Amino acid sequence: MTDRGVAPGTGGVRAKGVLSGQVAVVTGATKGLGLAIAREFLSSGASVMIASRREAAVNETVASLGVACGDPTRVRGMAVDVADLAQVEALGKAAKDWQGHLDIWVNNAGITAPYGPSMALDPRSFTSVIHTNILGTYHGSLVALRYLVPSGQGRLINILGRGDRQVVPYLATYGASKAWVRAFTLALASEYRATGVGIHAFNPGLMRTDLMTETEAIAGFGAKLRALRVVLRLIGTDPDVPARTVVWLASRATDGKTGLDKAVFGRFGLAGHAAREGIAWLRGKVGPVELQIREFPATGPSAPVPA
Ligand SMILES: NC(=O)c1ccc[n+]([C@@H]2O[C@H](COP(=O)([O-])OP(=O)(O)OC[C@H]3O[C@@H](n4cnc5c(N)ncnc54)[C@H](OP(=O)(O)O)[C@@H]3O)[C@@H](O)[C@H]2O)c1
Repeated sequence: MTDRGVAPGTGGVRAKGVLSGQVAVVTGATKGLGLAIAREFLSSGASVMIASRREAAVNETVASLGVACGDPTRVRGMAVDVADLAQVEALGKAAKDWQGHLDIWVNNAGITAPYGPSMALDPRSFTSVIHTNILGTYHGSLVALRYLVPSGQGRLINILGRGDRQVVPYLATYGASKAWVRAFTLALASEYRATGVGIHAFNPGLMRTDLMTETEAIAGFGAKLRALRVVLRLIGTDPDVPARTVVWLASRATDGKTGLDKAVFGRFGLAGHAAREGIAWLRGKVGPVELQIREFPATGPSAPVPA
């Protein structure tokens, strides 16, 4: 166990029917972790309302999830930017109106800014991260609790990330946003402790998703990220691994609990995972992860002053 607590039985639960009859909202669910959570929720019997900004991606994802789970009536979707409260309110209403109840809400949508020193970042990158990661989590939590608290049940799960407990140089905005998400989530858990709603924070660990494999850096800093190809192979996971832990958090296994602050792996679990991945690599079963690093010129006060 780490001091933050690791979800028991890393890998979570995949038991058929553990979320049967429940209605869940998952934001940022057209790819990566959100898509994996939606898939695992559907496998566990829930009905799922997915959301992300791009309507075409939402429609495609709803169609493919419907086919994969064998029951298209259990999947819906909506194009939503979580930075906009009115859109998140519409998402909550649509989810509640669908089957008359709303039981689980996962604030997963998250973005990062290019890797590099904070003064070199375009200030708009800073604002975008704050809008999605902080305002988006605030909006989703607010709307979810408006439905969950009066019903005296349900789960609100907010997704953490690197920086939730430590300082992350060159990813200062992202790291600080995740520290905010953790502090906010645990404060909500304390405020609404007596309501019957489970409010939990979850760090999925390093994952092989577009957020990491299609990465951006300030010019000159991309080279620092090259080791990520190996790091992602050895200590990264595919997102279905942490997604199964999210099923566990949302399931009756956590009834009566709130304020859980979990990570997918403890120190020993991570070492075991890295050893398994390393052996698979040595046996030639997997290779380093494909990584695209796009570099941007520095902007802001640290950029070279034009002559
Ligand atoms: N990958 C990692 O190693 C890692 C590690 C720790 C924590 N996390 C956290 O895990 C979560 C998911 O990350 P991921 O790696 O799965 O990312 P990803 O593959 O880049 O997927 C992000 C998803 O969020 C959606 N999204 C982004 N901004 C949004 C907005 N403003 N409103 C609504 N949807 C939005 C995206 O779709 P659209 O672009 O269509 O909106 C996409 O569906 C994030 O909170 C991230 O911080 C990731």
